[in-house]
Amino acid sequence: MSEVRLGRVEDIPDGGSAGYDIETEHGRRLYMAVRRDDRVFVYVNSCPHTGGPLDFEPGRFLNLERTLILCTNHGAQFRIEDGYCLSGPCAGKNLEPAPAVVRSGFLVLCG
Ligand code: FES
Repeated sequence: MSEVRLGRVEDIPDGGSAGYDIETEHGRRLYMAVRRDDRVFVYVNSCPHTGGPLDFEPGRFLNLERTLILCTNHGAQFRIEDGYCLSGPCAGKNLEPAPAVVRSGFLVLCG
């Protein structure tokens, strides 16, 4: 895949999340990101349980405490740092990481 800009990092609230609906050369792809200070964790927006998107309300991917990624469909909870599912119907599985870097203030998919 060639480089694809997801969006501006400053548009993700610190401690918050954002979702992206991107048209790529391989078709439409959904991604999500969580920002913590200067770190941004990016995953494919697809729950290992059903393959559907994690966010019922667009862009909201975190539990109330903002400590875990939450799938709002059936409640699976994932660690932010590595996407590992701690609880729910897909416990023990992982979100698919998306290779991304920050370049000139933009979150850029690469690879
Ligand atoms: S679709 Fe995510 S827990 Fe069921």
